[in-house]
Amino acid sequence: MTAHLHDWLELIFRWFHVIVGVAWIGASFYFNFLENRLDRAASRNREGMAGHLWAIHGGGFYYLEKFKVAPPSLPQTLHWFKWEAYFTWITGMVLLILVYYLNTQSYLIDPRVADLSPALAIVLGLATLAVSWVVYDQLCKSRMAERPMLLAGVIAVLLVLLSIAMTSLFGGRGAFIHVGAAMGTIMVANVFFVIIPNQRDLVDALKENRAPDGDKGKAGLQRSRHNNYLTLPVLFIMISNHYPSTYAHEWNWLVLVLIMAAGAAVRHYFNVRHLPQRKVWILPAGALLMVLAFFITMPDTRAPGGADLPEISEPVDDQAIRAVLDQRCIACHAANVAQGGIRLQDDADVHRLASRIHATVVANRSMPPGNVTGITDEERAMISAWYQGLER
Ligand code: HEC
Repeated sequence: MTAHLHDWLELIFRWFHVIVGVAWIGASFYFNFLENRLDRAASRNREGMAGHLWAIHGGGFYYLEKFKVAPPSLPQTLHWFKWEAYFTWITGMVLLILVYYLNTQSYLIDPRVADLSPALAIVLGLATLAVSWVVYDQLCKSRMAERPMLLAGVIAVLLVLLSIAMTSLFGGRGAFIHVGAAMGTIMVANVFFVIIPNQRDLVDALKENRAPDGDKGKAGLQRSRHNNYLTLPVLFIMISNHYPSTYAHEWNWLVLVLIMAAGAAVRHYFNVRHLPQRKVWILPAGALLMVLAFFITMPDTRAPGGADLPEISEPVDDQAIRAVLDQRCIACHAANVAQGGIRLQDDADVHRLASRIHATVVANRSMPPGNVTGITDEERAMISAWYQGLER
């Protein structure tokens, strides 16, 4: 019952998280598109107007116009976009607790990386989110803000260091999610502490008939830009738990950095696509980073799963493997609890899934999660030898 309840809470919050996340990032992409595609020439003769845009969607024509600064008076209804962002963070934090903090042994702590106690792991995780925001925020408020490229470079270096730090503290899956949660926290805090207050100032200025605070405007723009480049990397991290070949790799921090850089590059391409110099090379450069990550994560079939496993000289038959699976896997992979849709009770299924079993137990060692069932290196070596035997 409690396990089932936990499962359903996770389901509901994950669903919720994806829905509000789509709404947030979708709106953000849409407004980026508007900004980039405004017909500025057409509005040149309309005083105070920056540009307009025609669109068709859902069978209707839409006409939008952007003001250079603000309309002469405040409209009666003004739509704000902020709850999508706040709810994405709230549901994300609930998920972090449900999936990682209530289950530190499976996905957060990996004794091969660092033998943390559950309480320490959780404190370190939460502290990472808070410290990341404070450091980032201070950097943005420092004099470095006057040199946007330098600031972006420093933030990128810090993200690399964060990836290294997280993967040296937590198991791969929990490490990736904490890098993502730190970036997500920064993005939402940008909305909450900088972007929305700046918009509020714009509105107040209009009401009070004064000029808006230029500094606030500048800061808002800077934070929006940063958020824009963080979206694709964070989206990858949200789905990364499906890809043990990335997070469970020996060089997982590097793989993460490459994929994040690829995401930022693709985002950059879409940001500058409409400009006279389209910089098409950015896309192949991003693709190249992905190809690099592909080759780095390629399982080594010559020494499957690494040379550190004990040698097994005799052939290993199904019966021997059955004993290992029954002891180490069945608790989570039987007919009644088929985690990840994987059932390991029948030998036929085991043969069908042999390559996945090999990949998760030997090559990237993501199974059993956090090695909760205490599989030995000897047993991993047995699965490796059994798998080699099957292939021939
Ligand atoms: C404590 C529970 C638990 C134990 C024990 C466990 N697993 Fe899993 N396994 C999971 C969960 C949860 C998933 C789903 C992971 C996901 O979708 O992110 C999974 C997914 C898998 C997958 C599919 C993932 C993929 O990348 O193909 C395979 C294969 C697998 N497990 C094999 C094994 C084997 C073999 C063992 C025993 C050596 C084992 N598991 C032990 C919980 C467990």
